[in-house]
Amino acid sequence: MGRLAVIGGSGFAAMGGLAELGRELPDTPYGPPSGPIIHGRLGDGEVLFLPRHGAAHSIPPHRIDYRANISALKACGAQRLVGLAAVGGIGARFGPGVLAVPDQIIDYTYGRAQTFFDGEGSEVVHIDFTEPYCADLRADLLAAAAAAGVAVVDGGTYGVAQGPRLETAAEVRRLERDGCDLVGMTGMPEAALAREAGLCYACCAFVVNWAAGKAEGEILMTEIEANIAACSDRIRALLTALAAVRA
Ligand code: HPA
Repeated sequence: MGRLAVIGGSGFAAMGGLAELGRELPDTPYGPPSGPIIHGRLGDGEVLFLPRHGAAHSIPPHRIDYRANISALKACGAQRLVGLAAVGGIGARFGPGVLAVPDQIIDYTYGRAQTFFDGEGSEVVHIDFTEPYCADLRADLLAAAAAAGVAVVDGGTYGVAQGPRLETAAEVRRLERDGCDLVGMTGMPEAALAREAGLCYACCAFVVNWAAGKAEGEILMTEIEANIAACSDRIRALLTALAAVRA
């Protein structure tokens, strides 16, 4: 089944409950990843863990070297990647505190290195991305959630915004018209690069606020932080169940 890795997002610069067995900082053709890759034990299983924004949560979404991260995880033997994503909720089923395993993506980002295939003399490669997430890993995540007794929404379209600012209310209305259920900032090009690298990638999103204009008033960081805290035990339980699944 292949080695499991977790890419931690906001609220997951470190992963509580992960007993560290070692760490590696592989160099890649793109430079170093966001931080050292922790090899650890989570319950009965082992996982690799990489904080996407760095160990000090200091790398904003548009400055993350997604190619270095995917390449470094692959170099460490990862074959299955779960990207954790703190997101805003758009659709009625995706209120704060909800966990979701999205099944589609709309990419609104720009200016990010989107492909491994653009070096001098590199071949031109067009990956199939009809289904952007790995069906097997999505199924494993849903089964792990059921085993852990954690409620998750199966499916949803993740709109990936450039950030780092949050959206305007009009932008969220447009995302909604486009069919987005969730909005975050880091889902791309991570998912596409994983596909290019031949890795199985799925997303575990957790809703930390109603997207702009979907609730009264401003979006407050205190609200986001409280919802991260409210989700973290369930995410840990889900990942622990996932890690326990053996090849
Ligand atoms: N928009 C974009 N990214 C986010 C949000 C949001 O409302 N909440 C958490 N990440």
